[in-house]
Amino acid sequence: MHNSETMIKATLLNRKTIRKYSEKPVEDKLLKEILIKGCRASTTGNMQVYSIVVTRDEAKKMELLPFHFNQKIIKEAPVVLTFCADFNRFNKWCLERKAEPGYDNFLSFFTAAIDALLVAQTVCIAAEDEGLGICYLGTTTYMAHKIIEALKLPRGVVPVTTVTMGWPAENPDQPDRLPLEAVVHNETYQDYSAEDIDGFYSEKEGRTDSKKFIAENNKETLAQVFTDVRYKKADNVYFSKMFLQVLKDQGFMNH
Ligand SMILES: Cc1cc2nc3c(=O)[nH]c(=O)nc-3n(C[C@H](O)[C@H](O)[C@H](O)COP(=O)(O)O)c2cc1C
Repeated sequence: MHNSETMIKATLLNRKTIRKYSEKPVEDKLLKEILIKGCRASTTGNMQVYSIVVTRDEAKKMELLPFHFNQKIIKEAPVVLTFCADFNRFNKWCLERKAEPGYDNFLSFFTAAIDALLVAQTVCIAAEDEGLGICYLGTTTYMAHKIIEALKLPRGVVPVTTVTMGWPAENPDQPDRLPLEAVVHNETYQDYSAEDIDGFYSEKEGRTDSKKFIAENNKETLAQVFTDVRYKKADNVYFSKMFLQVLKDQGFMNH
């Protein structure tokens, strides 16, 4: 087998999120190569309706820190990347070329968000293939309005995810996944019976770390840790309203 082929296979199968980074710097040249690879990701109509904001400056990281709910990884990671859905650049190109952009709507936001996430994940794979560690931060969509201010994102630009990157200084166990049959459907969707759910979630629920998680959070089931502690309805509703406002303010909900 071709050597690079073996490498990408191992990169994908062995990957895990890394949340602790060493002091070793991530060189600009390497970061550039990773970003070049990332930008080969598929993109809607080859429009590249995304932008990537690179944060390396300590002061800027400190500014971003509270908007990521003080997750200390923001200040500890040598590189922080904010991936944005971006129709601003494309709209400007259209307007300067006698073309009328029609991208001030939700579908266009979603298109640009898909583009941004595809480039983000391709950057992550390219980085992990170099031995770097990454961690996504979902806090970006919770505090998008503040990140917009800090990164000076103009109208037409919405941050959709953040990735921290650095050389690994930890080697955690690889987290579990549901069995493949739980997530793959052949030809048509096969809805889940209560027995299917029992079967597909039994390994996850039986794990020592899951049991610890339930006890630490004073809950009866693992699912309750998600619904009552980690991803609560009240938070989801609150941050949904804020994010919809961001989409309006950034010019994506005019129709
Ligand atoms: C969109 C997204 C948002 C995430 N947000 C956070 C986060 O805010 N903080 C964090 O420590 N990990 C975050 N993660 C990492 C996940 O917790 C991690 O991918 C998951 O537990 C599976 O672990 P693995 O990547 O090691 O397989 C996020 C992952 C994704 C895809």
